[in-house]
Amino acid sequence: VQITVESSGGNATTPHQYGFLHEDISNSGDGGLYAELIRNRAFQSSERFPADLSGWSPVNGASLSLKTLDQPLSSALKTSMNVAVGSSKGQVGFSNDGYWGMDVKKKKTYTGSFWVRGAYEGTFTASLRSNITGEVFGSTKLRSRAKASEWIEHSFKLVPTKSAPNSNNTFTLTFDAAGVKDGSLDFNLISLFPPTYKGRKNGLRVDLAEAIEGFHPTLLRIPGGNMLEGYTNKTWWNWKETIGPLKDRPGYPNVWGYQQTNGLGLMEYLELAEDMNLEIVLAVYAGLSLNGDITPQDKLQPFIDDALDQIEFVSGDATTKWGSVRAKLGHPAPFKLRYVEVGNEDWLAGGTAGWESYKEYRFPMFLKAINAKYPAIQVISSGSVFDGYNIPAPGNGDYHIYGTPDAMVDQFDLFDQTPITHIIGEAAAVHPNGGSGWDGGLMDYPFWIGTVGEAVSLLGYERNTDRIIGAAYAPIIRSLDRWQWAVTMIQFAADPALTTKSTSWYVWELFAGHLMTHTLPASSNFNPLYYVTGKNEDKGTYIFKGAVYNSTDAADVPVSLTFEGVKPGTKAELTILTGPANPYGYNDPFTGVNVVKTTREKITAGKRGSFDFSLPNLSVAVLETVPS
Ligand code: AHR
Repeated sequence: VQITVESSGGNATTPHQYGFLHEDISNSGDGGLYAELIRNRAFQSSERFPADLSGWSPVNGASLSLKTLDQPLSSALKTSMNVAVGSSKGQVGFSNDGYWGMDVKKKKTYTGSFWVRGAYEGTFTASLRSNITGEVFGSTKLRSRAKASEWIEHSFKLVPTKSAPNSNNTFTLTFDAAGVKDGSLDFNLISLFPPTYKGRKNGLRVDLAEAIEGFHPTLLRIPGGNMLEGYTNKTWWNWKETIGPLKDRPGYPNVWGYQQTNGLGLMEYLELAEDMNLEIVLAVYAGLSLNGDITPQDKLQPFIDDALDQIEFVSGDATTKWGSVRAKLGHPAPFKLRYVEVGNEDWLAGGTAGWESYKEYRFPMFLKAINAKYPAIQVISSGSVFDGYNIPAPGNGDYHIYGTPDAMVDQFDLFDQTPITHIIGEAAAVHPNGGSGWDGGLMDYPFWIGTVGEAVSLLGYERNTDRIIGAAYAPIIRSLDRWQWAVTMIQFAADPALTTKSTSWYVWELFAGHLMTHTLPASSNFNPLYYVTGKNEDKGTYIFKGAVYNSTDAADVPVSLTFEGVKPGTKAELTILTGPANPYGYNDPFTGVNVVKTTREKITAGKRGSFDFSLPNLSVAVLETVPS
């Protein structure tokens, strides 16, 4: 394939072309990115998920029970755990087995706290132990300040002296039975954090945040996904209940099968964006929930007001009502906010009526109100022109694709003729070719041919990047101990050794690691080589990104690539990713084998100025000239 790239005439590209969606699915938040080690730390409940004692076990004959006291810890956290001493002698208490275990490492500082109510004189002992042998890896004692009828917070630091050999460990809190005056103590909000990403309080799990950061994302779509919508229009992800002290966060009946703590709330998401330098696409609830609850037009205004409050919380200065709330929470400077999305997949929940109401009044009302107050904000509808939506100006669209490898390849020219700007709000190859539907043929992990299909779709989006805000992989991380969704970019468990970057991680990393500032037009046809060409004016480099996808012929594709104005002798780095012999091969967390092979070589433009190389079938490549 001869490719001649012109020196001008392309599009300026967005600097936030590659990113991800986050919502709490498959414990990607609680028990995942959110670093809290204690499961069910505050006995949060909802109609859908009643309070229980899951995660908790008594130590030395204590009896544990849930209580709704006249004097709860807070109006948000009404249920607490009563620990009755009974006839036990010596140290009694409780333990928590975490989210399918806890990683314990020596010399790391674990930061803990709990609230207790009841008269007790003595000390508390907090420890990290093996769940199998009972071996103590680290413990600390703290003097009780507990009082008969007052909730008192206790804080401690715990530094293990030994690393646990595996993650089957517990956190245990004990106290002397003899020091308890009235036979029992009440506990709530029992928390333990390992060191967190960037050292943030109430922060993120380091290895997972770093695995995400490692693919160089520049775009974050939050909060969800279905999580935003909730089951009913009384239980959507109400951002106001996710900010401020943890004791004031009631939690949330997650749409993915568990009660969510909301410890990973709006502020934590904004800090994540800040720490990773991500452009935020902020989703606001649009009055439609997963059970099909559609808010009628005359009842929609409170949700619009709420969305305006949310935008003000994120981007208003400290003199505004909600900007001042954010300032009090420790962030006086407004966050940059240029994109707001109204709802999530409104074409799906609520059937035709849901979608019609969105087109008829819900999106237009939000669009008008948001742009009236914030004219510079780009408002995005939760559907695309391909969902049959003639999106009213100045709105933008959101397009989602979960498909077969072939379907991903078909994306390549999808946006070539689309004048409306879109975000690709969720994308991943999830089915094998020939498979379809959510009940059959779903792969377990991202798989090589699907990943190459994704690469082709991303090339197509990047070619149209003057009208594509960016593309977000979804879902981004998944606990191996919970199944809500198969194909996910990064897998993890309590044991960090199981944190696994999928085949897709490698391709997104490669593309996101070579950002263009402008595309440049090129001369050749596509199929089986798909590509985009351009330059990075900041670095003074020329860039080619390509993928070979041929389902009928496995031959290599010879490429002769010339950039107008690039002289013979110019040096470039060529990176080629290839996969396993089985195109459906994947990175299996349990074997640790990485099926993606990366080769990097320096190549030089020949006498006629061309870079000549060959790409195997099912490969993904980037060539970038070395800045002179
Ligand atoms: O990413 C998983 C789910 O897929 C999202 O929550 C939803 O928006 C989509 O249907």
